[in-house]
Amino acid sequence: MNILGIETSCDETAVAVVKDGKEVLSSVVASSHEFHAQFGGILPELASRKQLEFMIPTLQEVLKQYPLSEIDAVAVTVGPGLIGSLLIGVECAKTIAMVTGKPIVPVNHVLAHPYANFLTTQSFHPPLTIQFPAIALVVSGGHTELFLMNTEKEMKWLGGTIDDAAGEAFDKSARLLGLGNGGGKALEELAAQCINESASQRVTLPRPLLHDNTLNFSFSGLKTAIQRAYTKINDLEPQFAYEIQEAITDVLVKKTLKAATQYSAQSILLGGGVSANKRLREKFIAATRQQVNASLHFPSFEYCTDNAAVIASYAYYHYLPQNYREISASPSLSVEI
Ligand code: KG4
Ligand code: ZN
Repeated sequence: MNILGIETSCDETAVAVVKDGKEVLSSVVASSHEFHAQFGGILPELASRKQLEFMIPTLQEVLKQYPLSEIDAVAVTVGPGLIGSLLIGVECAKTIAMVTGKPIVPVNHVLAHPYANFLTTQSFHPPLTIQFPAIALVVSGGHTELFLMNTEKEMKWLGGTIDDAAGEAFDKSARLLGLGNGGGKALEELAAQCINESASQRVTLPRPLLHDNTLNFSFSGLKTAIQRAYTKINDLEPQFAYEIQEAITDVLVKKTLKAATQYSAQSILLGGGVSANKRLREKFIAATRQQVNASLHFPSFEYCTDNAAVIASYAYYHYLPQNYREISASPSLSVEI
C-alpha cells in the first residue's frame, strides 16, 4: 500500500510516499528555516505564507515520480502545531481526497516521530529488527514524551515534559550563546570544541527530575539556571555548551532507561529533532549496553526532524481513514493517549 504523507506543522513543507509503512519511495522537505534566521525565530504568519508558496511545488516534485494513480491513500498531520501552518497541509490533503475519492488518514505528528525507525530507503536499511514491547522517546522542539509500544499499532503515553521541551532548552541556550537560530545542532557543534571536559565542571547545571518516581521531564528550571550561570562565563563557551548538553541528555537517557526497565522493553526507539544529537546517541549506546537487555534504534539523520515519511508510515500502522469533511487542523492536539 502506497501512502502519500503531507506534513506542515511548523516551518517545514514536506511530502513523501511510503510503501507498506516502511519503504520510502520519495521524500521531499522544503524548509523556511534559513529565511526565519533573520528574525531570530519562527514567525507563524511568515511560516505559513512560505508554506503556501512551497506546498504545490513540493507536492509536484513527489507526484512527478509517483503519480496519484499509484497512491492508495493520503495521510496528513492535523496537529499539534501552528494553526496557519497546519491548515495548508490539511486543506491540500483534503482537496486531493475530495477530487480523487482516495481515503484520508489524519495523523498526530508527535506520535509519528518514532516511526522514523521503521523506514528504509534505497541506501539505508536499519540493521536491527524492532521488538515489542518497545519504549519510544520523542524529543523535539515542542515535545519530550515517552510512549510504550506493545505492537507497531499500539501506543500508550507514559509521561512527558511538565513545562518546556528538551529542544526548547537547546534552542534558547543556543541563542543565549550567540548561536542565533542554529538550535541544538549549533550547540552540539560548539560543545564538540570542548577540549577539556573537566573544565566543564566549573559550571555545574541541575539535572531536573533525574531521581523522581515519575516518567516526566522538566526543563524550564534548567533554562533559568543556564541563564544565571551564563553571566559568570567569560571565555568558556565550548565548556559551557558541553555542560548544557550533558545536563539535558543525562535526564533524557536516565528517564528512558527507567521506563525500559519498568516495562521490560525489548527495544528502545528515539525520534524527533533532538534524537539527531550525537552525544545523546553515544550516551544511549553506553547506558543501554550496561543497564537493559534491549535493542536501540535511532532514525537516520534526515528523518529525525520533521518530514512526511513518518506521517505516511504512522498512517499505515494506524489506518483509520475518515471522511475528508470531518478532518480539521487541531493545533493543540493531545499526545496523552
Ligand atoms: O522534530 P523537530 O524537527 O520539530 C518539532 O517537531 O519541534 O525538532 C526540532 C528540534 C529543535 O529544537 C532543534 O534545536 C532540535 O530539534 N535539534 C537538535 C539537533 N538537531 C535538531 N537538538 C540537539 N542536537 C541536534 N543535533
Ligand atoms: Zn516534529
